[in-house]
Amino acid sequence: MVKRNTCIFISGAGTNLKALIESSKLYNFPINIKLVVSSNNKAKGLCFAKMHNIDYLTFNLNNRLQQENALRELRKRNISLICLAGYMKIISKRFIENFKGKIINIHPSLLPKHKGLDTFSKVLKSKDYVTGCTVHYVNEKLDSGKIILQKKVFVEKCDNETSLKLKVQKKEYKAYSEAIIKVFR
Ligand code: GRF
Repeated sequence: MVKRNTCIFISGAGTNLKALIESSKLYNFPINIKLVVSSNNKAKGLCFAKMHNIDYLTFNLNNRLQQENALRELRKRNISLICLAGYMKIISKRFIENFKGKIINIHPSLLPKHKGLDTFSKVLKSKDYVTGCTVHYVNEKLDSGKIILQKKVFVEKCDNETSLKLKVQKKEYKAYSEAIIKVFR
């Protein structure tokens, strides 16, 4: 199988990155992770790139020059898919245009519900009995691109933000890999 060169964007713990690296090692999984881009050089998740000998770079994509450098690095590696995995910066219109239809994101709610930050607190405040995660294409509007796949999680009375996060993230690891398979099917 021809594996597509992929870049994962992170800002934090990188547990989704870890799950994607594991999937990418499977011979029939459609991507090869060629690069990890972080918005900050202290992101914990960078340890997974180091551990698996994957190139990693830090860019501030809000800086025009650094954005140019990032685009060059992505083109150099023939990147055909960008997966945002806990990437906490807004992706500029210009950047999206350069990778039209090739950027996907994972969000910890059943979109269109609870876009943006503080998702778990919003879920609890809304007294939702079901929540989950969404993998979607990235467009210029926050958390609004076409949905690729969603997975549900039931909210129990005893749940708090921490327990909910744990349950949703467990689903995310499966959801992201399944969504990537769907993208290339
Ligand atoms: C995930 O819950 C994802 O939905 C959100 O940010 C979190 C990243 O977690 N966009 P990690 O860095 O992959 O552990």
